[in-house]
Amino acid sequence: MENTFDFGMVGLGVMGANLLYNMADHGFSVIGYDLDAKKADALEKGATPGTHVKGTTNVEEFVKSMKTPRKITMLVPAGKPVDSVIASLTPYLEKGDIIIDGGNSHYTDTLRRVKEVAEKGFHFMGMGVSGGEKGARFGPSIMPGGDQDAYNHLKPLLEAVSAKVNGEPCTAYMGKDAAGHYVKMVHNGIEYAIMQAISEVYDLLKNGQGYTNEELHQLFAKWNEGKLKCFLVEITRDIFATKDPDTGKDLVDLILDKAGAKGTGKWTSQDAMDTGVSIPSIDMSVALRTISAYKNERVQAAKLYTPEVLKIDTPKEEFAKQLEDAFYLVMIICYAQGLSLLVKASEELKMDIPLHDVVKIWRGGCIIRSTLLEDFYQVYVKNPHLTNILLDEHIAKLVKENWNNLRAVISAATKSGIAVAVLQTSLAYLESYTTANMPTNLIQAQRDYFGSHTYQRIDKEGIFHTEWETDEEAKEQI
Ligand code: 6PG
Repeated sequence: MENTFDFGMVGLGVMGANLLYNMADHGFSVIGYDLDAKKADALEKGATPGTHVKGTTNVEEFVKSMKTPRKITMLVPAGKPVDSVIASLTPYLEKGDIIIDGGNSHYTDTLRRVKEVAEKGFHFMGMGVSGGEKGARFGPSIMPGGDQDAYNHLKPLLEAVSAKVNGEPCTAYMGKDAAGHYVKMVHNGIEYAIMQAISEVYDLLKNGQGYTNEELHQLFAKWNEGKLKCFLVEITRDIFATKDPDTGKDLVDLILDKAGAKGTGKWTSQDAMDTGVSIPSIDMSVALRTISAYKNERVQAAKLYTPEVLKIDTPKEEFAKQLEDAFYLVMIICYAQGLSLLVKASEELKMDIPLHDVVKIWRGGCIIRSTLLEDFYQVYVKNPHLTNILLDEHIAKLVKENWNNLRAVISAATKSGIAVAVLQTSLAYLESYTTANMPTNLIQAQRDYFGSHTYQRIDKEGIFHTEWETDEEAKEQI
């Protein structure tokens, strides 16, 4: 039994088991370990006949039955469970073995673990996996980062099991140390923003234009055949057509409007603030999930304010076109913000994240896959060092083509009283980012006025301070 398996998985939840089945279907022999005997037993039963899959609850047997260097992925909840798994594996590992954390761990934890595990002579890699349960089974997008030599041992396996776009695998080396987890975190931040934007589009159509779920289904189906084609639009299309098996009603109408969050979107915002990168559409989407959780207060406030929602009187077809363009532009902006964070964080943390590969592997398998990313990929191939994709001429053309319709949609939303926070924030970001002269000269003057914080001038070099108060004003305060 010793040294026979190509690959091991700790944590046999649906994601872990599905990823193993995917590997086994590609000809790899795999072993899974879980403390829960039911899960370990069920693993073998669910495998494709003729594939090499084994489940065990014995950690020593698990480790020893793998070929060296061992390649062990864990898919367990982020936080303490990851440290416990590392501690349980290490007594049986040999020098050069590779532990891979495929969960959504915070990248700072991964940085720490990379060091701790390296001190023991093993490799630790952080690896983002996106695509949900189906993706894990039939082809996810996989974002591994860490030691490049260790990655080379994994490469053939990851390339075999990942999703493919134009025959190219949706996996690539994401950079040093915690790069894999950093990229996945930002992926999720973008995911939050796009999901929030879709829900705002839904609100406008449903409450502003009186669309039924059937009409929404049809419109999203149409959009998914055009420039908006992406996984999130595709699943939204299907959600509108799904009935509740108990009541026969449209399921979406029966779902409580409180959004959950495991934290990756919030981490993206927190880290962007620390890194000094502006990603307000993502920040806003995190804030909106938080507001959604305050259901009782919202109900109370709605009674107090009785806000009126007016119908949007733009003809349906015209508004649908405006909305298609507006949402397309918002998607561009959400990706642009996330990618600009990756550029800066990669520099600061010396991760060497290859942006063209990030975009390349996000084209398929992951939750934020979209045809738009094909445009982005071509841009980064041409210019891998862009600090913000909005600076590219081709992207600028796309932005300009859709800009007026984003404005039109926001103005209609404002008139009707429908909240479109991410759409609005995205427009504000675009309008600020493309402004050569912001009104922040005034902020500098105010800071210098009340706190002598100094300012720079446009007409001469140096640092300046002004005594802003006249003598009389100073006297008044006394
Ligand atoms: C993916 C998803 C996945 C998961 C998130 C959801 O790429 O497959 O992002 O990682 O759906 O954990 O996060 P929230 O629970 O925070 O919405």
